[in-house]
Amino acid sequence: MNKEQTITGIIRGTGACVPKRVLDNNEIAGFVDTSDEWIQERTGVKRRRIVESETTVSMASEAGRQALEEAGVLPEEVEMILVATGSADRVFPCTACQVQEALGAVGAVGFDLNAACSGFLFAYNTAQAYISAGIYRTILVIGSESLSRLVDWTDRGTCILFGDGAGAVLLRAEQGRNYRPAAHSDGKGGPALTGPGAVTRIRSIDGDSSKTKTEYITMNGKDVFQFAVRKVPQVIQEVLDENELSAEDIDWFVLHQANARIVDSVARRLRLDIEKFPMNLQEYGNTSSASIPILLNELNRKGVLREGQKLVLAGFGAGLSWGASILEWKSGSKTK
Ligand code: UT7
Repeated sequence: MNKEQTITGIIRGTGACVPKRVLDNNEIAGFVDTSDEWIQERTGVKRRRIVESETTVSMASEAGRQALEEAGVLPEEVEMILVATGSADRVFPCTACQVQEALGAVGAVGFDLNAACSGFLFAYNTAQAYISAGIYRTILVIGSESLSRLVDWTDRGTCILFGDGAGAVLLRAEQGRNYRPAAHSDGKGGPALTGPGAVTRIRSIDGDSSKTKTEYITMNGKDVFQFAVRKVPQVIQEVLDENELSAEDIDWFVLHQANARIVDSVARRLRLDIEKFPMNLQEYGNTSSASIPILLNELNRKGVLREGQKLVLAGFGAGLSWGASILEWKSGSKTK
């Protein structure tokens, strides 16, 4: 427990980029057996964006560029770029290296981190660890996904949920309180939500091309739902206890945007007003590791977040993985 002021990463800029192409529920109902009514009632999603010309790298770069601009930080000043993604354009080079090139962040070391929908939260925690250890002072943390390329568009149980996009935050080392995060993984639960194998062979070493497989996201929706509504309130309570705070001390709970019923249930289980749980999944669906920074950027740009407010970020998803972190919002001294 560390209540005293020390070195911590403060968000000084945010950014987001979503594809132009809007795919609404009615259009999906044109090719799988579903309806706008069912999707909205069971998930809260009305529409989502899907990539056409955009890529995981291009969206990540644009979100990162906006975050740098707001922070008044030059690309050359960035020391590290962390990209959370489960849908990189390539296995390598990593997304972060391509973002570095696109932004001209020539001095930054970059790597990707994959923890599915928990990815942004875990990348944010990683950046905070580098900052509090005194290793780097200026870090760009991005979540970027093109999940529409991994979705089975004939499976109504999954294709209705996901969307594409990217969000970013620029962290700078400043005086502040260092909050301890809470984070967990459970590999046993992995089969409940899986993505395609990273490597698809055109021709195997023994010349057998039949070994090439086309795989998609698979999900046991009920199991993932149950996992989320049980574990997310627990981990939020855990991070509050760990930092000697109570739920009443928190102004905003920025949860991974998977399903409105999950967010509602978490608020109910914590006996908190749903107004403290902003949502934008109606517009974007579940953008996995991009959902938290896209929402943060929206709240920031709309002026909803105020100096000194406390936020809980909570992510959860494939792995299984889940976690929560606390941050204090500083807006007053942002360079314009
Ligand atoms: O980042 C984490 C990612 N994953 C999640 O957050 C997923 C969490 N789970 C969910 O969001 C929900 O489980 C879903 C939205 C995926 C599904 O909702 P559900 O209320 O759990 O539905 P269900 O799977 O229990 O299915 C109920 C019925 C079934 O029909 P029968 O067997 O009762 O006749 C399904 O076949 O609804 C049917 N169904 C659909 N009907 C219309 C499933 N998907 C659809 C659909 N449209 N898209």
